[in-house]
Amino acid sequence: MKILAVETSCDDTSVAVIEAHSYKKQPQIKVLANIVSSQTDLHAQYGGVVPELAARAHIENIVPALKATLNQAKCSLEDIDAIATTYGPGLIGSVLVGLNTAKALALSLKKPLIGVNHLEGHIYANFVGKISKISRQKVGIPARASEKSQISNLPEFPLLALIVSGGHTLLVYMKDHLNYKVVGQTIDDAAGEAFDKVGKLLELPYPAGPLIETLALKSQKNTFSFPKTDLTPPPKRDEKGFLIRPEPSLNFSFSGIKTAVLREVIKIPKMTIPIKQDIADSFQSAVVEVLIRNSLRAIQKYKPKTFLLSGGVACNSLLRKRFVKETKRIKINLFYPPKNLCTDNATMIGACAYFKYLKKDFASFNLKADSNLEL
Ligand code: KG4
Ligand code: ZN
Repeated sequence: MKILAVETSCDDTSVAVIEAHSYKKQPQIKVLANIVSSQTDLHAQYGGVVPELAARAHIENIVPALKATLNQAKCSLEDIDAIATTYGPGLIGSVLVGLNTAKALALSLKKPLIGVNHLEGHIYANFVGKISKISRQKVGIPARASEKSQISNLPEFPLLALIVSGGHTLLVYMKDHLNYKVVGQTIDDAAGEAFDKVGKLLELPYPAGPLIETLALKSQKNTFSFPKTDLTPPPKRDEKGFLIRPEPSLNFSFSGIKTAVLREVIKIPKMTIPIKQDIADSFQSAVVEVLIRNSLRAIQKYKPKTFLLSGGVACNSLLRKRFVKETKRIKINLFYPPKNLCTDNATMIGACAYFKYLKKDFASFNLKADSNLEL
């Protein structure tokens, strides 16, 4: 079957066509086309996404993106079996463009409409292009040693997923498909937001995440000591005087580190490239270590079979490298999508929609855009 998916929740207009099927309950999802029309240049001059401009740009971009996607997928609208769309969270004007486009397509083609939460979409990017062991045997492909964990297997449940994007930082436990329990989240800034705000302090254009990563590569390493905020409450004594250690917190806070960077920046009389490189490196390592620390705590508590990374910050090479090392050490399977499926894209929305399609979890045409939609 083929699903056409639309994603416009922030500043990328994306349309994709995926082809999916299941064999012995093992899903296989193939990308036929994934077009992302980026608005980065439009917003860069303002240092962040301007919601009104984003919505207008989506209106201009959505039909050309739709045409280009069908062209690339070499199919017509008549070949599509279902229409999927993000309906939140995100910028309301942006979400509405994709949602209404999807409604119009579903209505005119008389195909089911599937509403997807942008966050579940990020998680499902990890199910794209993976071939199950059973399917491999069926088509006679022998497993290669290099494919042991990353390519040939699908993520197994129960799993834990870390979503790290510009708007969210969440640890999610999933017992099964489409079953989410948020076990940790940021109480202030998201990880990607911290990268972008520190980028502003270093006079880098938006989005600053990839540029901070590049700067950090050339640093002297760990010159600055930035806080790795731990929200675990301090130990207490009970009435008999015994020390009670509270359970380690799985929540995140990144606003302190941003302020710490600001304090260092205003102390520096003349900012130079090498200083920027050192700040970028120390900041990036502190954020990555906090993400690792809380993820390891969650793994210890929930004992999942697999751990998934997702969201724009999952493009970060240091983050990937550290997670590869730690998950190898504790012998847990790690998955992360290719970079183009970490940042916002419609393929991940289509992938999640496939599992909703299997459950006949279809949306009505009253589906409302919800800018604060939760998992
Ligand atoms: O998932 P995404 O495309 O959009 C949201 O749903 O927010 O994530 C965008 C975020 C931005 O904050 C961007 O700076 C960050 O992901 N990002 C990175 C890297 N690439 C993108 N952060 C750190 N390192 C990267 N290489
Ligand atoms: Zn996103």
